[in-house]
Amino acid sequence: MKVLIWDESLSVQIQEIDDDHRKLVDLFNILGQSIEEESSSDYIEAVLEELISCTDWHFKHEERLMLKYGYQGLVAHKAEHQELINSAKAVQQKFLQQNGMISNEDIAFLEQWLTGHILGADIEMGSYLGEVM
Ligand SMILES: [Fe+2]
Repeated sequence: MKVLIWDESLSVQIQEIDDDHRKLVDLFNILGQSIEEESSSDYIEAVLEELISCTDWHFKHEERLMLKYGYQGLVAHKAEHQELINSAKAVQQKFLQQNGMISNEDIAFLEQWLTGHILGADIEMGSYLGEVM
Protein backbone atom coordinates (compact mmCIF):
# COMPACT_ATOMS: atom_id res chain seq x y z
CA MET A 1 0.00 0.00 0.00
CA LYS A 2 1.42 3.28 -1.12
CA VAL A 3 1.59 5.84 1.66
CA LEU A 4 0.51 9.34 0.78
CA ILE A 5 2.92 12.00 1.94
CA TRP A 6 1.84 15.56 2.50
CA ASP A 7 4.59 17.83 1.24
CA GLU A 8 4.88 21.33 -0.20
CA SER A 9 3.61 20.12 -3.57
CA LEU A 10 0.20 19.68 -1.93
CA SER A 11 0.25 23.08 -0.23
CA VAL A 12 -2.49 25.53 -1.16
CA GLN A 13 -0.50 28.26 0.68
CA ILE A 14 -3.23 28.78 3.28
CA GLN A 15 -2.17 27.43 6.66
CA GLU A 16 -5.60 26.48 8.02
CA ILE A 17 -6.52 24.59 4.84
CA ASP A 18 -3.15 22.84 4.69
CA ASP A 19 -3.67 21.73 8.31
CA ASP A 20 -7.00 20.13 7.36
CA HIS A 21 -5.44 18.45 4.31
CA ARG A 22 -2.65 16.97 6.43
CA LYS A 23 -5.25 15.45 8.71
CA LEU A 24 -7.11 13.95 5.73
CA VAL A 25 -3.88 12.51 4.32
CA ASP A 26 -3.16 10.94 7.74
CA LEU A 27 -6.62 9.38 7.83
CA PHE A 28 -6.23 8.09 4.30
CA ASN A 29 -2.99 6.38 5.33
CA ILE A 30 -4.62 4.91 8.44
CA LEU A 31 -7.31 3.48 6.14
CA GLY A 32 -4.74 1.99 3.77
CA GLN A 33 -2.79 0.52 6.66
CA SER A 34 -5.89 -1.02 8.24
CA ILE A 35 -6.75 -2.74 4.96
CA GLU A 36 -3.21 -3.98 4.48
CA GLU A 37 -3.10 -5.35 8.01
CA GLU A 38 -6.50 -6.95 7.50
CA SER A 39 -7.98 -5.18 10.49
CA SER A 40 -11.53 -6.10 11.48
CA SER A 41 -14.27 -4.79 9.22
CA ASP A 42 -15.68 -2.84 12.19
CA TYR A 43 -12.37 -1.01 12.48
CA ILE A 44 -12.08 -0.32 8.74
CA GLU A 45 -15.69 0.87 8.74
CA ALA A 46 -14.89 3.27 11.60
CA VAL A 47 -11.88 4.69 9.72
CA LEU A 48 -13.92 5.13 6.54
CA GLU A 49 -16.63 6.91 8.52
CA GLU A 50 -14.04 9.17 10.17
CA LEU A 51 -12.46 10.00 6.80
CA ILE A 52 -15.82 10.88 5.27
CA SER A 53 -17.05 12.95 8.20
CA CYS A 54 -13.75 14.86 8.49
CA THR A 55 -13.86 15.53 4.76
CA ASP A 56 -17.42 16.75 5.04
CA TRP A 57 -16.43 19.10 7.88
CA HIS A 58 -13.35 20.28 5.96
CA PHE A 59 -15.41 21.06 2.84
CA LYS A 60 -17.71 23.23 4.95
CA HIS A 61 -14.63 25.00 6.30
CA GLU A 62 -13.41 25.81 2.78
CA GLU A 63 -16.90 26.84 1.68
CA ARG A 64 -17.17 29.27 4.60
CA LEU A 65 -13.84 30.88 3.67
CA MET A 66 -14.85 31.14 0.00
CA LEU A 67 -18.11 32.79 1.05
CA LYS A 68 -16.44 35.16 3.50
CA TYR A 69 -13.90 36.34 0.93
CA GLY A 70 -16.27 36.49 -2.05
CA TYR A 71 -14.65 33.79 -4.16
CA GLN A 72 -16.19 33.74 -7.65
CA GLY A 73 -15.60 30.03 -8.09
CA LEU A 74 -17.64 29.10 -4.99
CA VAL A 75 -20.59 27.44 -6.75
CA ALA A 76 -18.43 25.26 -9.00
CA HIS A 77 -16.11 24.36 -6.15
CA LYS A 78 -19.03 23.46 -3.90
CA ALA A 79 -20.48 21.24 -6.64
CA GLU A 80 -17.16 19.41 -6.87
CA HIS A 81 -17.24 18.86 -3.10
CA GLN A 82 -20.73 17.41 -3.32
CA GLU A 83 -19.66 15.07 -6.11
CA LEU A 84 -16.64 13.92 -4.10
CA ILE A 85 -18.70 13.21 -0.99
CA ASN A 86 -21.23 11.26 -3.06
CA SER A 87 -18.46 9.16 -4.63
CA ALA A 88 -16.84 8.46 -1.25
CA LYS A 89 -20.21 7.46 0.18
CA ALA A 90 -20.66 5.10 -2.77
CA VAL A 91 -17.34 3.41 -1.87
CA GLN A 92 -18.55 3.20 1.74
CA GLN A 93 -21.86 1.63 0.67
CA LYS A 94 -20.06 -0.89 -1.48
CA PHE A 95 -17.83 -1.74 1.49
CA LEU A 96 -20.85 -2.30 3.74
CA GLN A 97 -22.60 -4.44 1.14
CA GLN A 98 -19.54 -6.56 0.46
CA ASN A 99 -19.12 -7.57 4.10
CA GLY A 100 -16.11 -5.45 4.79
CA MET A 101 -14.23 -5.91 1.53
CA ILE A 102 -12.54 -2.96 -0.10
CA SER A 103 -10.65 -3.29 -3.37
CA ASN A 104 -7.35 -1.79 -4.46
CA GLU A 105 -9.29 0.07 -7.15
CA ASP A 106 -11.41 1.69 -4.46
CA ILE A 107 -8.31 2.78 -2.56
CA ALA A 108 -6.71 4.11 -5.74
CA PHE A 109 -9.93 5.95 -6.43
CA LEU A 110 -9.94 7.54 -2.97
CA GLU A 111 -6.31 8.55 -3.34
CA GLN A 112 -7.00 10.16 -6.67
CA TRP A 113 -10.08 11.76 -5.15
CA LEU A 114 -8.08 13.38 -2.39
CA THR A 115 -5.00 14.54 -4.29
CA GLY A 116 -6.80 15.44 -7.52
CA HIS A 117 -9.08 17.91 -5.79
CA ILE A 118 -6.28 19.45 -3.71
CA LEU A 119 -4.01 19.90 -6.73
CA GLY A 120 -6.78 21.33 -8.89
CA ALA A 121 -9.64 23.30 -7.38
CA ASP A 122 -8.04 23.83 -3.96
CA ILE A 123 -4.78 25.32 -5.22
CA GLU A 124 -6.79 27.67 -7.43
CA MET A 125 -8.93 28.72 -4.45
CA GLY A 126 -5.81 29.06 -2.28
CA SER A 127 -4.14 31.47 -4.66
CA TYR A 128 -7.23 33.70 -4.53
CA LEU A 129 -7.56 33.50 -0.75
CA GLY A 130 -3.87 34.21 -0.33
CA GLU A 131 -4.40 37.62 -1.93
CA VAL A 132 -7.47 38.67 0.03
CA MET A 133 -7.16 37.13 3.50
FE1 LIG B 1 -12.00 22.02 -1.89
